[in-house]
Amino acid sequence: MKLSVIGAGNVGATTVQRLAELNIADVTMVDIVEGMPQGKALDISQAAPIMGYDVDVTGTNDYADIEASDIVIVTAGIARKPGMSRDDLLATNIKITQQVCASIEEYTPGSIIITVTNPLDIITYAASKATSLERSKVFGMSGLLDSSRFESFIAKEVGCSAKDVNAMVLGGHGDSMVPLPEHANVSGMPLPELLDKESIDRLVDRTINAGAEIVGHLKVGSAFYAPSAAIASMAESVLLDKKRIMPASAYLNGEYGYNDICLGVPVILGKSGVEKIIELELKPEQKAALDRSAEAVKEGIYKI
Ligand code: LAC
Repeated sequence: MKLSVIGAGNVGATTVQRLAELNIADVTMVDIVEGMPQGKALDISQAAPIMGYDVDVTGTNDYADIEASDIVIVTAGIARKPGMSRDDLLATNIKITQQVCASIEEYTPGSIIITVTNPLDIITYAASKATSLERSKVFGMSGLLDSSRFESFIAKEVGCSAKDVNAMVLGGHGDSMVPLPEHANVSGMPLPELLDKESIDRLVDRTINAGAEIVGHLKVGSAFYAPSAAIASMAESVLLDKKRIMPASAYLNGEYGYNDICLGVPVILGKSGVEKIIELELKPEQKAALDRSAEAVKEGIYKI
């Protein structure tokens, strides 16, 4: 099996490292900067004897090398700087995404595409329009990252292992994202029975601002360790046909009452991509929050 990762920046290269460590598919990393993908791929290859993987990891500036990929992961684009919202990246990253999708169509038509570039839901929509793929084969990584952040904050607050926390964040990957504390649990115990409302509200707020919190510390660039973990987990579910249920930005055609939009919703990920979109019963206030999030994403889509 073969994976290609477009972009050898922090998100791209860390994703390649995590994919190599999964040891399930060869990985090709593409970037337009000469030498960067080659150098980083060599470095990752040279950890193989210590880490025990035997997949091939290569770096290239030539899109032709992505041919016959099972999945192409698109991380190419500019990242946020302090004070910038994800939407500020729109104009530049749309152009990059459209060029990358044209290369995917040319060299590896039919490959599943996982988008990562921000503003995520709008970029995912643009990618789905820029290829001739069926809608189940183009989806974006964001909800799993936001859910993982929410889970990590819950674990710290409860004082338990992060492994025992299960939580989900729906909606667009932006200020309007919709964490669902009522659906969260710790080893089967509902979160609202473990934490008071004030604490939960604080964790919800921190989750919504988690990306910006990291940008604020880093000053240049944004998060990449947790994003790459989420990407690798999604790619693994597809490649190994695990059928894991996780939120992804998926193209909606009537689900949740929305049309012609990409938005974070729970899906089953298997070998054909988004194999099912799961429609949760939402309380009126949760649905209203999801409506606001869909509206915010639509505003971005109108600007394309
Ligand atoms: C974040 C940026 C990458 O959430 O969207 O960290």
